[in-house]
Amino acid sequence: MTASFIDSIQVIDQQLIQLVYRSRSLIKGVEYDELMATCLRNNPTRGITGVLISHSGWFLQVLEGSSANVNSLFKVIENDPRHSNFLLIRFNAIAVRDFSDWSMASIEVDEQRFLNIANQALHAEDVAMSAVRDFLCYGKWID
Ligand SMILES: Cc1cc2nc3c(=O)[nH]c(=O)nc-3n(C[C@H](O)[C@H](O)[C@H](O)COP(=O)(O)O)c2cc1C
Repeated sequence: MTASFIDSIQVIDQQLIQLVYRSRSLIKGVEYDELMATCLRNNPTRGITGVLISHSGWFLQVLEGSSANVNSLFKVIENDPRHSNFLLIRFNAIAVRDFSDWSMASIEVDEQRFLNIANQALHAEDVAMSAVRDFLCYGKWID
């Protein structure tokens, strides 16, 4: 194995990526605040940013960070008993983060918005998260 091969592998580990999954929440009441506190405690040290989007007991979570860090967090989250019906819908290399200002933002959206965001993410559209980011910045949906 050459040194340049190892270097290239490490470049892949460090590539900035955006991952999106959907799941069914099994969380009740105060557990949600505890979960968000965990995100805000852990994510900054791992260079993870993102948003947890909720609608009627369903989650869409966006995780951004290095490929290696997002992968290892994803494995932990996937095995968390506080949700089920787990479906990975996006794993994309990105040049810049959509949620660089948020260790983990949290928003509730209506049914149509949830489906739109999920569908755009699924079809790997470049603009998939821009409306969510703008909502977090300006407090209103700009369509
Ligand atoms: C929907 C959902 C989203 C989560 N998101 C994160 C996250 O962004 N960061 C994180 O550290 N843990 C997240 N978790 C919690 C992890 O599954 C796990 O419980 C936590 O990372 C353990 O952290 P601790 O060892 O500091 O207690 C999430 C769990 C669920 C159910």
